[in-house]
Amino acid sequence: MKRWSMIFAAVITILLSNTGEPAAKSSRWGKDYFPNVKVVTQDGKKVKFYDDLIKDRIVLISFIFTSCTDLCPLTTARIAQVVDRLRDEIGKDIFVLSITVDPENDTPDKLRTFANAFYTGPGWTFITGKPADIRAINSKLGNKSDVATQHRNEIVLGNDKTGEWTRNSPFADIENLELAIRDMDPDWRDRRHVRQDALAADHNPHGLTIGREPGQVLFKKICAPCHTVGVTDHIGPDLLGVTDRRDPKWLVEMIMNPARLRANRDPILADLDAKYKGVRMPNLGLSASDASDLISYLASRTVQIEELRAQPEESHLHPTQGGSHHQHK
Ligand code: HEC
Repeated sequence: MKRWSMIFAAVITILLSNTGEPAAKSSRWGKDYFPNVKVVTQDGKKVKFYDDLIKDRIVLISFIFTSCTDLCPLTTARIAQVVDRLRDEIGKDIFVLSITVDPENDTPDKLRTFANAFYTGPGWTFITGKPADIRAINSKLGNKSDVATQHRNEIVLGNDKTGEWTRNSPFADIENLELAIRDMDPDWRDRRHVRQDALAADHNPHGLTIGREPGQVLFKKICAPCHTVGVTDHIGPDLLGVTDRRDPKWLVEMIMNPARLRANRDPILADLDAKYKGVRMPNLGLSASDASDLISYLASRTVQIEELRAQPEESHLHPTQGGSHHQHK
């Protein structure tokens, strides 16, 4: 097994040890369970934790800290992917909460810069507050450690109306995570079999590995939450042509250990840091062979996209009826 998959397997094992089990079996988590303390949002608004953020809502809760250099940016980027899939419900039926585990350092300003790197729409609140209050909330949600770096990289899903609460992994397939959240809504559960049949038809029991380069599998799982190739700058820069515009050694270092490049005050990274505020490319524990798989994937994908982009030109020579302004001679 490759090193990255071992790291993720380890993370996932920790997560799975809780996944699927209701966090509260008989005792309903609700009004009397959560501290109804005042907390502060990324916009500096003071709100009551239970009354304003939990009451009557379906919520997805994650735990983060803004100076985190490994998993929290990836976790947050994956939640942003789920939020995108739920965009019609976010802020109406479903809400996302990201609670800092480092209230001493995470000011509302820092949270806002971090938040904006991932999402700027409604329905996703980042909160901090008095350290004792935030710790009390985190502890009720199962995060008992006082050390930010030891916080659990898992998410909590809940429906305050029905009193159902469960844990899940941000590294689950995005589709499964989307289903798990929708499942918190009993009305949706009644309608879901239709949808699940549709998903099952698409489901490939062998995962992503069939006929794909190893770099592509890795890219989809841990890079695509932040990067596209040939689409647009997203949470991180678009990577089309990155293998042409950067030195190969630099690329390997950037993929394997961006923190070291930053510590050495690399000028290219300093420029990127200035442009991508609030989020840093995380250290993901990748090996040299993972980096080389990823780089070959980025190079071949670039060629593929450039070829595809060349095609519309050709089709101008043979315009289809009614479609094009170009005149056929
Ligand atoms: C949590 C978001 C996130 C994840 C996950 C992530 N990156 Fe990045 N990446 C960034 C950001 C942000 C930058 C811009 C540099 C900075 O400020 O850290 C960046 C920069 C880069 C660059 C330099 C781009 C350039 O124009 O020179 C490369 C290459 C890169 N990432 C590759 C990857 C690969 C490969 C993966 C998966 C193994 C990955 N990234 C995962 C956020 C991310």
